[in-house]
Amino acid sequence: MPKVSPSEIPPPAPYPRSAKLLIVDDEEDIRTQMKWALAQDYEVFLAGDRGSAREIQVREQPPVVTLDLGLPPRPAEVEEGFATLAEMLSLDPFLKAIIITGRGEREHALKAVGEGAYDFLYKPVQVDELRVVLKRAFYLSSLERENHLLQKQVGDEGFQGMLGASPQMQEVFSTVRKVATTEAPVLIVGESGTGKELVAQAIHRLSGRKKEPFVVINCGAIPETLLESELFGHEKGAFTGAHIQRRGRIEAARGGTLFLDEIGELSLGLQVKLLRYLQEQVIERIGGREQIRVDARVITATNRDLKQAMKTGVFREDLYFRLAVVTVSMPLLRDREGDLFLLAKAFLSRYAEESKRKITGFTNQAIRAIQSYSWPGNVRELENRVKRAVIMAEGSKINPGDLELGAQQNRDEYMSLKEAREAVEKEMILKALARNKDNVTRAAETLGVSRPTLYELMEKLGIERK
Ligand SMILES: Nc1ncnc2c1ncn2[C@@H]1O[C@H](COP(=O)(O)OP(=O)(O)OP(=O)(O)O)[C@@H](O)[C@H]1O
Ligand SMILES: [Mg+2]
Repeated sequence: MPKVSPSEIPPPAPYPRSAKLLIVDDEEDIRTQMKWALAQDYEVFLAGDRGSAREIQVREQPPVVTLDLGLPPRPAEVEEGFATLAEMLSLDPFLKAIIITGRGEREHALKAVGEGAYDFLYKPVQVDELRVVLKRAFYLSSLERENHLLQKQVGDEGFQGMLGASPQMQEVFSTVRKVATTEAPVLIVGESGTGKELVAQAIHRLSGRKKEPFVVINCGAIPETLLESELFGHEKGAFTGAHIQRRGRIEAARGGTLFLDEIGELSLGLQVKLLRYLQEQVIERIGGREQIRVDARVITATNRDLKQAMKTGVFREDLYFRLAVVTVSMPLLRDREGDLFLLAKAFLSRYAEESKRKITGFTNQAIRAIQSYSWPGNVRELENRVKRAVIMAEGSKINPGDLELGAQQNRDEYMSLKEAREAVEKEMILKALARNKDNVTRAAETLGVSRPTLYELMEKLGIERK
């Protein structure tokens, strides 16, 4: 018998989910008596066997149930009672089931609790005792459900492999959810390493095209002459070296999604061809005459300012409006309120686990260094630095040196934040260039930014290319 003194009875739940109570007992007299005793406090439902109990549970979803273990067809045994308990709990894991059992059946009562029942009472049931147990059961049930809801909300800081609890990222997630199920072309804009590709993948995975291919092509990484045949394919003999017929990436994306990364790097000639595909949904392979119909959803990304590019005539306006039916803007990492540490910790535990190193966190200095750094390479840079730090760290905590963020600290007093940022950026870029013998592509890789971004930064900071 549970010992509950009235002083331990918790206050009523602030938001009772429902005061529905289901009573399962094969004896009609008992059912009516209990109903009569409890009808003032609860909305009572009655069931005499497993079938009707299930029916009422599904329909009314009572948070609390009392259950007599001896049910038909063999009311003298307990099997049917246990089966009913198991079934009810599988329908609602938060259900509070109070077992009503005979005096001589203590082991059954305990077994039922072991199998998930909330509590038990002996027959004949004392109504005031029952009232106390019920009140607590309803209270606990509402607490647990609320808690569960809260936990789920906390879990929502992750979305399709992207972490972000900041309002800025929650907005991105919400746009992604909305546009995914449409066919609209999406343009994703944002600086290097902000997660543009992850967003493109998320849109594809949440769309009706998820079982079809997701084809990525980086327009900035392929020379123009190759890019055309890469995109549209070519017929045999279309040009020297075209020994066989080859389908392009647009065709490969048939039925699925074509992700054109760094679209801002596309030459004007290819812009015209892409526009034609978007307007008519047909392509021609190089050297071919056949009009090939291809249905693919187009998602594009860029870290260039396309509006500026339109002004200077390097990006076609008509193409822009075709591509940017929906625009998703990726916020800079430093602008995402609260995400810096969420991400830093997530990367730390990911890479510590991967490399089987017992690294438990960041030192206070490291936390300060992370906070004051500007993160020009955004999430990718953070990920790379933490990954490297996990390997480099000698202690159990990561310090600024492990993150290669040591240099800037005492300068902050003499410079504005912007100056300090730029000084650190400049220093890092110069070092990376020196280390990589002025190879910009490799320097960009070690800095965790894309090549175009590095060029932009170099220009901004007045670093000459050798
Ligand atoms: N919100 C996020 N949560 C977890 N990881 C992220 C998040 N955003 C980006 N990343 C990680 O950061 C790295 C860069 O992401 P992604 O390639 O999508 O960026 P991008 O904007 O396409 O960069 P670039 O312009 O340099 O191509 C990837 O390793 C990705 O997994
Ligand atoms: Mg990318």
